Amino acid sequence: MDKDSITHFGFENVKAGEKAERVAGVFHSVAAKYDIMNDLMSGGVHRLWKRFTIEAAAPRTGQQILDIAGGTGDLTKQFSQRVGPTGHVVLADINSSMLNVGRDKLLNSGIAHNITYTQADAQFLPFEDNSFDCITIAFGLRNVTDKDIALQSMLRVLKPGGRLLVLEFSKPQSQALETLYDQYSFKLLPLMGKVIANDAESYRYLAESIRKHPDQETLKGMMETAGFVNTSFTNMTGGVVALHKGFKA
Ligand SMILES: C[S@@+](CC[C@H](N)C(=O)[O-])C[C@H]1O[C@@H](n2cnc3c(N)ncnc32)[C@H](O)[C@@H]1O
Repeated sequence: MDKDSITHFGFENVKAGEKAERVAGVFHSVAAKYDIMNDLMSGGVHRLWKRFTIEAAAPRTGQQILDIAGGTGDLTKQFSQRVGPTGHVVLADINSSMLNVGRDKLLNSGIAHNITYTQADAQFLPFEDNSFDCITIAFGLRNVTDKDIALQSMLRVLKPGGRLLVLEFSKPQSQALETLYDQYSFKLLPLMGKVIANDAESYRYLAESIRKHPDQETLKGMMETAGFVNTSFTNMTGGVVALHKGFKA
């Protein structure tokens, strides 16, 4: 994507070259309160979505895992325990504030031996070809400026036979749920952001970026266009969230 071409930042149209900076502003702003806001906004359900993701990823002892847009490290923590001392997890995120919160959290819970922290953009992953058995990106892809380039970059660093799991907000599967969800995310979310984190704007971006993200079938098609095979998705919470999976041939 050319840096002058137009993309979106929530409902706002911005130049592609400006989006990363705007997204960075959001995550620098929310980093300190990210975990508590996640629990409050989802009623703790994000933990179930993430647990499901780990089970679907099925990490095995000794495997190499990349958790892109890993933020405060929820998935990395569980992967680290599952791959054991002979395995390795890279927690990669573009944002230094999110990475710092994640690293402190994992160190404080005594998890350190098999994790590396890397500041990296999902579009331009700084790893060798064919490096990882499994890659995850949880609630990260919708923030990336060029999702197609990011998917190609993930495919490049996956080992043949390796799997990618994309956990992301998606399209609710019933009109009633969509209406309820709209009310919640456009009214209540920014209010919670204002009261708890003194930051209504970031939480408005969250709601808007979810609406701009491709729906289930579109994202599956994008993964196939990037070169992933055996792609599938599973809806959770009525399609509020979907877990996409694909493999490198
Ligand atoms: C909503 S948080 C998700 C964090 C974590 N994966 C989780 O599920 O709790 C989104 C993360 O994506 C990161 N991010 C945004 N754009 C990115 C990019 N282009 N490359 C890598 N990470 C990115 C942000 O810095 C942020 O930490």
